[in-house]
Amino acid sequence: MDQLQKIEDRFPDWRYDHPRILYALIRAMKPEVCVEVGTYRGYAACYMAEAMRQNGKGRLYCIDDWSLTDHEHRLGNAKEHFWGNIKHLGYDDIITVIEGDSKSVIWPEKIDFAYIDGWHGFSTAKSDFVNASNHGATVMCFDDVIGTIGPRMLMDEIRKDDKWMVSIIDSDGGLGIVTRRETRRPIKYAQEYPMPNTGTQLHEMTKNEVINYYDTHSIPISYMGETEHRP
Ligand SMILES: C[S@@+](CC[C@H](N)C(=O)[O-])C[C@H]1O[C@@H](n2cnc3c(N)ncnc32)[C@H](O)[C@@H]1O
Repeated sequence: MDQLQKIEDRFPDWRYDHPRILYALIRAMKPEVCVEVGTYRGYAACYMAEAMRQNGKGRLYCIDDWSLTDHEHRLGNAKEHFWGNIKHLGYDDIITVIEGDSKSVIWPEKIDFAYIDGWHGFSTAKSDFVNASNHGATVMCFDDVIGTIGPRMLMDEIRKDDKWMVSIIDSDGGLGIVTRRETRRPIKYAQEYPMPNTGTQLHEMTKNEVINYYDTHSIPISYMGETEHRP
């Protein structure tokens, strides 16, 4: 059976779309170190770990104090479920648990990607953002950024910072994707230059061709990239 279906079968009573989006992002990014804040019974963690298993590399650190007990009468102890799920699906060699409050635990030294789904108060969500970014995360996803005030306020605050870009996917309670603005690299290829271009092959551009192209379309040359300047 398909492994993603096995994860779904393991969580018949816990459904939201974000784990599949996280899975796709991690498959594309191929990060070395991911952190999840708020792991609960491990639904998103399993998707992220499966992406890392398929990537052939990466470690997932799960931070949780397992303070959420609302569903215990119905679903049992969340921490026990987490370990049962991780072992059953075979991710215990990819996942490391950091147990405790995300504000006071020691975060991994170097992080590439973080998924923040712990306490949704503004100050805790912000502290998670600051911790992840201080440890190098360049891509972070935040749960519940539409309907819940703390994460939503945090997205509004991060939007004001030029170093970051914020996109919101309107699924479930809203998934915020925060990415560090990249240093633009020089342009290398064109499809339709020089004309005529009869096929799908990309044409490798010289620096002067790039400059001429911008001039032809009357676009400011700054879009070329920080390391390239008009001679
Ligand atoms: C909604 S659940 C997370 C769901 C999980 N991401 C999933 O995909 O199934 C929120 C989790 O955050 C944890 N949590 C809440 N406050 C926390 C804090 N200050 N530090 C660490 N974990 C916290 C709770 O124990 C709970 O397990």
